[in-house]
Amino acid sequence: MKVLIVGSGGREHAIAAAVAKSRKVEKIYCAPGNAGIGQIAECVNIGAMEFDRLVAFAKEKEIDLTVVGMDDPLVGGIVDKFEAAGLEVFGPRKNAAILEGSKAFSKDLMKKYNIPTASYENFDTPKAAMEYLETSKYPIVLKADGLALGKGVLICNTKEEAMEGVRELMLDKKFGDAGNTIVIEEFMTGREVSVLSFVDGKTIKIMTSAQDHKRAQDGDKGLNTGGMGTFSPSPFYTKEVDAYCKKYIYQATVDAMAKEGREFKGIIFFGLMLTEEGPKVLEYNARFGDPEAQVVLPRMKNDIVEVFEACIHQTLDQIDLQFEDNAAVCVVLASDGYPVSYEKGFEIKGLETFKDKEDYYVFHAGTKMQDGKIVTNGGRVLGVTAKGKDLKQARANAYKAVEWIDFDNKYMRKDIGKAIDEA
Ligand code: AMP
Ligand code: GLY
Repeated sequence: MKVLIVGSGGREHAIAAAVAKSRKVEKIYCAPGNAGIGQIAECVNIGAMEFDRLVAFAKEKEIDLTVVGMDDPLVGGIVDKFEAAGLEVFGPRKNAAILEGSKAFSKDLMKKYNIPTASYENFDTPKAAMEYLETSKYPIVLKADGLALGKGVLICNTKEEAMEGVRELMLDKKFGDAGNTIVIEEFMTGREVSVLSFVDGKTIKIMTSAQDHKRAQDGDKGLNTGGMGTFSPSPFYTKEVDAYCKKYIYQATVDAMAKEGREFKGIIFFGLMLTEEGPKVLEYNARFGDPEAQVVLPRMKNDIVEVFEACIHQTLDQIDLQFEDNAAVCVVLASDGYPVSYEKGFEIKGLETFKDKEDYYVFHAGTKMQDGKIVTNGGRVLGVTAKGKDLKQARANAYKAVEWIDFDNKYMRKDIGKAIDEA
């Protein structure tokens, strides 16, 4: 089979690495890809939003399966385009990707189908939002309805902060049209867990759990980022939590989407908060998490292409999804200054150390080839993942492996997986 992967980050590198292990696959293409993906796939210089060019490429190369890693093309309807051209593609259609594309939609869905989540109201004018804030309890959470690179969530401690937040989102349009509507919701406390799943429209199969570290600095300080590191499994995702989510959240979400005429095929990523009242949904994503994929996929035993095909052909009930009985930790190596401003173009040294080491992975996020050398080309540069027999061992291995890599302005959090010690 020939497989095309759409995207260019650490997540797509982790997907490509899993696809490369499939017995069924003889050739992988990635659009646009990056320097690391280029070592296992042929990268093609087509952007993830250039749907017509991607379709034309897939036809020309007789691609058997396209896998879309990123949210933007999914929400923009890339799957519909491929299907209309008679091409096999993994991911939700536009009318289902709205589960991630509109937070107002997802909140209304959860309310309608009694899926546990924070209480909330949706607003499409700043005036109504500000009136509501006059009598709210603080802290409170403001969310831009649309996609905002994971940055459209504001936690406001006071009324003044919240009013300023409404101005930023709805009047200054900090995230463009994503802020035309906002969700204002109750502030919750608890541990966060990411649970990814495969869905075929009817059946849902849950992957092993993970936890992300979204803030830029140690101790969960600093700005929100795309994710600075992950570990899997989460020791806080207990059997009880799993049973509760299976009963009230996972299948309920899939069934709700089907009832709404928005059959969901692809990945549903449940961002959960384990509150005192039980697990609640913080958000849905319609794709693998990044860097969650970088700890979950290396632990998956199945042939991922078979699972993708089962989702497309609605035979997921026949798949026995299995994960290794070990643990993995991913530490993101970023450019100092991320997520605000940073320099690019520095040579990355030490990548070859990973070549013949089982249980160690270096996934490229922001890298490119320049004059025969691999150089930094983004805020998040690499994800260094290591497995171990348990979380502590995996963490020690990951922090050993980050030392193999060197580039100017290398920055990482030193406390990825610290929560393990509290479990
Ligand atoms: P989201 O993009 O909706 O997952 O939000 C990003 C981050 O904001 C989450 O990972 C949480 O840390 C935080 N957050 C979102 N919603 C809430 C909430 N209702 N209460 C507390 N924290 C929240
Ligand atoms: N790591 C969070 C996300 O992928 O949205």
